[in-house]
Order: sequence, then structure tokens, then C-alpha cells
Amino acid sequence: MCGIFGYVGSPGASNTILTGLKRLEYRGYDSWGIAVKHNGSIDMTKQVGAIGDIDLSNKLNRACIGIGHTRWATHGGTTVNNAHPHIATDGSFVLAQNGIVENYQHLKAEFEKKGYSFVSETDTEVIVRLIEDTLKTTRDLTTAVREAFLTLTGRNTIIVLSADSDRIIAVRNGSPLVVGIGDDEFFFSSDTLSFADKTSSAVLLENHEMVKFDNGKLTFVNVMTGKAFDPQIQTLDHTTTTIDKEGYDHYMLKEIVEQRDTIREAVQYDESEFAPLVNAIHNAKSVYTVGAGTAGFAAGQIAYFLRTVASVNAVELKSYETLGFENHFAKGDVLIAVSQSGETADTIEAVEKAKSKGVAIASIVNMMGSSLIRLSDHAFLTRSGPEICVASTKAYTAQLSWGLVLAFASAGKFKDGVSVINRVSKQISGYFTDELFSRIKGIASGICSNEHFFVLGKGQHYYTALEGALKIKEITYKHVEGFAAGELKHGVIALIEKGTPVFVIVGDDEHRADMYTVAAEVKSRGAYVIGVADRTSTLFDDMIPSFPGGIADPAVKIIGFQLLSYFLGVALGNNVDKPRNLAKSVTVK
Ligand code: F6R
Repeated sequence: MCGIFGYVGSPGASNTILTGLKRLEYRGYDSWGIAVKHNGSIDMTKQVGAIGDIDLSNKLNRACIGIGHTRWATHGGTTVNNAHPHIATDGSFVLAQNGIVENYQHLKAEFEKKGYSFVSETDTEVIVRLIEDTLKTTRDLTTAVREAFLTLTGRNTIIVLSADSDRIIAVRNGSPLVVGIGDDEFFFSSDTLSFADKTSSAVLLENHEMVKFDNGKLTFVNVMTGKAFDPQIQTLDHTTTTIDKEGYDHYMLKEIVEQRDTIREAVQYDESEFAPLVNAIHNAKSVYTVGAGTAGFAAGQIAYFLRTVASVNAVELKSYETLGFENHFAKGDVLIAVSQSGETADTIEAVEKAKSKGVAIASIVNMMGSSLIRLSDHAFLTRSGPEICVASTKAYTAQLSWGLVLAFASAGKFKDGVSVINRVSKQISGYFTDELFSRIKGIASGICSNEHFFVLGKGQHYYTALEGALKIKEITYKHVEGFAAGELKHGVIALIEKGTPVFVIVGDDEHRADMYTVAAEVKSRGAYVIGVADRTSTLFDDMIPSFPGGIADPAVKIIGFQLLSYFLGVALGNNVDKPRNLAKSVTVK
């Protein structure tokens, strides 16, 4: 979702900002823009689509300061006019925003009455007019930005570049904002990854904090009180900041293969590090897990692990459907939030609601320093490294592996949990063979002209079915539904016709016989049955072969779906790393 990148330092700011924006590309965007200040005026470039190999060095090579933005459309279509930054009527400043101004309609109507005109359909331009209007009385850009910011409702993070002096002002509420501190240069960004190749020192701003670069120096201010404060400078861990396809055609395939290591990395904790959370779980009346999308399915699977391995009565909540539970949240409960980015607005909102009721917050997150980590009483990192492909793969299995070890630790068997993961990790390493890839490629080419697919799973593989279906949907744009196998006879079976591909997940578990029955039922109605299984069966027309992962099987069987999605997406000519309409970091509701 939208990304902000500002820079002040040496000449060549435009290209530095473009590089920063490219490192934010993984968040997903549909248009972009940069604005640099040079000789007392602002020069802007905005475009629809990907940044590509554009080089602005000839045009703007002398500018030392500027801001940029990648936009994922919310208010107003994907047009150059709607792309950020947006400029003040008198050209005195430009602004870019991440978030949604929830009171923008009211503010827009007010400003239209006052005679202001709008050139875009965005909510962002309302902030620009608000600052302009406030400037009439305050006469100072920093004061006007602060006052305007306090008028906005919703989660908004903004960055402003002044035309008349070397000044950048950025304020955070909701969407992330970090400041990279280099030698005589500063970076203002949505994440630390975007400048990780330049500096390892950063300040991670909290909500309602403002940073200003003016007169060669940085100042940090709490926007609510107006008081300046000394920021805490953090040192980033550079081992997790490489962004490179490393010889693979796509990040998606690279990240799928990386799972041979990442599921093990996610559980590199001592038992003592789990102990406070395990203790809170044992003392809790209710334990909830929460997430959205793929992370939501991981949350469901973690609740399943806690119930089945540790007899903890854990309940899965969807981040965006917690309203009915709010009255039940109580002091002493535990809520485990699952997120790759740690910035998903729905998940953060659910966490904030629970936290306000005294619920202890635990989280399993991939991005260091993210909002969710900072909201947590028990924060854990998946340590999967950057997940650049918009569709989540290695983060999902890392979340599962961490959740499984948490469940074992809650059952007093921490070491057994770690051994299960170490064993499966070794088996996954041997799983990625050319033979497997050709087999799955073959299945993909056989079914890529079909439009409807179904995925059926039961017990430990209920969430595998849901996540497997989501992965295929995201990368192929086909209609794919994942169902609990038990639902089949209650309605879904009406959709099966001759040739419909149906994936039947058969694990090495107590549901094997039921899953064979399901395969027979869809097959007798003409379905093309593809087993996702460890053993062949005459019921299968084709099969994605796997190996028995035991209790960790959900982290194993999903890999077949990830690979199938990848090869289907490639066969269809889709942009597998950046599927249409999707954003990596969903920072708006
Ligand atoms: C799908 C996918 C999304 C995310 C969801 C939550 O492949 O990546 O469904 O899982 O948007 O994002 P995070 O994990 O960052 O909270």
C-alpha cells in the first residue's frame, strides 16, 4: 500500500528518492510521484504504473532535498492527477500522504464554500488546502502542518516539502514513519528497508509524533503537546535487509524455496523467551488469535495448534470482525496477533481495542520495529527476511512453525516442538527438486484454461484449503474456493461439473478415509481430482506429491499450493510478484 520516501543530503536527491521508492515497491502501488526543491521552486514528476528504469539525473541532478510517494488508489482513480505529491495553490509546498482522511468530505465541502478549488479526487488534497488555510493565520508552515494534522480524523501519515527553504516536515498517525540517520543525510520513509543500504541508524516514530528537518537539523515534536523530545536512535539489523532475486526469475519462487530455512529461523528462541507468554496463556480466561488474509489463516491454524496440542481454548478472530467480541475482552485475556508487516490497519485496530480492555497482546511479526511489535507485551519476530512478493508464502509457514512451538511450549513440551520443526525443515530442503517443479508445471499447464477451482481440506488442513485457494486466486485471478471438506455435501457439490479441478488435501492423519470419500464423491460427478498427498490413490487424476509432516503438515502441504500458484501465474503471463490490485502492507481499513 502507499509508501512515503523523503530525502535530504547530497545532490542527486531525485534518483535517491526513486531508488527508495523502488525499495518500497513491494508494498504494492499503481502510480507514483516525486517532488524536489531547487532554486526556490518545486519540480514534480508523476506517473501512472511502475517506476521502471527512469533516470531523472539529467533533469534534476542538482536538487539535494525532496519527497516521493507510491500510491495505491483509495479515493479517486489511478491517474496522474490523483498521484501524490499534491501541491499548494501558490506552489509554496507539496504534500504526500499514507492513510485515509475520514472527515475529508466535510472538510472539502467547507473549503469549496470558502472558494478553494480541487484538482484531484483525493482526500489528500484536502490536507493541502487545510494547511494553506491555516497558513493564513499562523504564517508558519510547521505550525500550520501541526494544526492541520490535528483537524484530521482517521489514520494518516503525511510528509511535506517546503519550496522556500530546505525544510521537510513529516507526521505520523497510523501508517508507519521512520527516519534514517546517515552521514550528513536523512531519509524519511514508510519502512527501514527502503534505506537499509544507506544507514543502519533510525528513529521509529510513534503515533502523533512529528519530525522536522530545517536549517540543517532534525527536531522531533509531539504533535498533541507541541513539545520537542529527544528521539531514541535504534540500530538496524542489516542481515535481513537484502533485496535480491538471487538468480531466481521471481521473488515468489525464491521466497517459496527459502522456506527450507525460514520455518526453522522462526523458532530460534529459548524456552525462557516463550515462558512469560506461556504463563499468560495458562492464566488467561480467553485466548484469541487474530489476523487478516493469509495471516488470518495462520492465526486460525495457531488457534488450532493451541487447542489440539496444548488443550488451550483458543479462538480465532478475524481482525476486521472483532466488534462482537469487544464486550468479552477482559483483563488477563491474551490476544495473539499475526502479521507479516506488523502494520495491517485492521489488525492494529483489533489489537488496540483489546489492549484498551486490559488484554495482554502477543504478536508474531516479520518486520522489525513495526507498529504491532511496539503495541505488544510479548513480541516475537519470524525473522524470515524481507518478503518482497506481495503474496505471502514464507511468512505464512514461519507463523505456523512459531505457533506450533508455542503450542508445544504451552503443553510443557517446548523441545519436542522445536524437534518437529527441525525435522520438517530438513525434509523441506530435499523437497524442492527439478522433478517436483516439472510435475507441478505439468499440472499447471493442464488446468490453466479452467476458470473455477475448489480446494477441500479437513481438520489440520482446513486452513491449508483456505490459504491454498487464496494463493491461487491472488496469482491467477481465477475463481478458487477453499472449503472444509465437510461442507461439500451441504451445498458446494452443486458447483462440481465435468472437468472441474478439485484439490483434495489428504494428510497422514485421522481424516484420511473421509478425504478419500470426498475425492470419490466429487470424482463421480465428473471432477478432475488432484490429490495433495503423501500417497498415490486411484481416486486421483493427478497429484501434487508431498511428504508426511506430522503435526506440522499444514506448513508442508501448503508449499504444493504455493508452487502451483506460481507456475499457473507464470503460465498465464501474470506479474506473479505484484499481482493486480494487491498491496503488501494494508495500512488502510
Ligand atoms: C496474501 C497476503 C495478505 C496478508 C494480509 C495481512 O498473500 O499477503 O492476505 O496476509 O494482508 O498482512 P500482514 O500479514 O502484513 O498483516
